Amino acid sequence: MTATTTAPQASTGRTLPVVLTAAEPGAPVIPYLSDARPVVRQRLREHGAVLLRGFDIGGVDGFADVVRAVSGAPLSYAERSSPRSTIKGQVYTSTDYPPSEEIFLHNENSYQKHWPLVLFFHCMIAPQTQGATPLADVRKVYDLIDPAVRAEFERRGWMVVRNFTPGFGVPWQEAFGSSDRAEVAAYCERAGVQVEWVGRDGLRTRARREAVHTHPVTGERVWFNHMTFWHVTTLGEDMCAGLREMFDDDELPTNTYYGDGGVIPDEVMAHLRACYRAAWTRFDWETDDILIVDNMLAAHAREPFTGPRRIAVAMAESSAEPAAS
Ligand SMILES: [Fe+2]
Repeated sequence: MTATTTAPQASTGRTLPVVLTAAEPGAPVIPYLSDARPVVRQRLREHGAVLLRGFDIGGVDGFADVVRAVSGAPLSYAERSSPRSTIKGQVYTSTDYPPSEEIFLHNENSYQKHWPLVLFFHCMIAPQTQGATPLADVRKVYDLIDPAVRAEFERRGWMVVRNFTPGFGVPWQEAFGSSDRAEVAAYCERAGVQVEWVGRDGLRTRARREAVHTHPVTGERVWFNHMTFWHVTTLGEDMCAGLREMFDDDELPTNTYYGDGGVIPDEVMAHLRACYRAAWTRFDWETDDILIVDNMLAAHAREPFTGPRRIAVAMAESSAEPAAS
């Protein structure tokens, strides 16, 4: 392959997200959605994300009603990878990750056997500076990737290896929502995750997944995986060097490989990051914005931020069920 850290430009003419604004500022959102739901869903499939702006949402309960109006019952958050608190029911904080750090583009739960097809974000408190939820069209990312690199991942898949080490990061008991080893092992078996208990209370898991998927409604090929997000080099030079000093490669908290366990060259990862960056787009949050994301068409990220920021998240429409149009 001829990996580079730059990516060619691709233009689709689609805006991401597409913005749907209230006819009257402060109009209640649910009556709007009872008429506009087909339009919202059609725009979602076309653009990859829809931003509802200028509506009265009605707090956390109103946000949950928006999820039900567009997608049906919200899903619970399983096999956790990031610190996240429950606000109410199946509404969560976006993540409790430190404000000074960027969270790289990813498709929610694309390391799992099943994932939510639709994500909802509600801006409860807008950040003072930055703090956007950038998006990238993963149809575009797919097109930008060197075809030889893409073909190799289509053939070999990718693998995530996670090490839950006591006293470091999210404990396995929290990640899997159980401290019963047999229960965790049974869950992993069902989820296509290999389990290896390490030392007194450590756990190593391995999961092989596909890098490229076909969108269940549009039939488009999409770059849909967590490989770049979780590769140790994506954490930046300092963090990567620090972790590589602390841990052997197979003990890193999280790292990714080709699906057969082969090492992915650093320049391939740099190329993939460049492709994501080339597809990157952002907007500034306003209080009571609701962002609806087709999780298989758009990746999302988080900019660093200052000041208070509260973005609620809910997930819906499991890929385990037949997709609704
Ligand atoms: Fe996320």
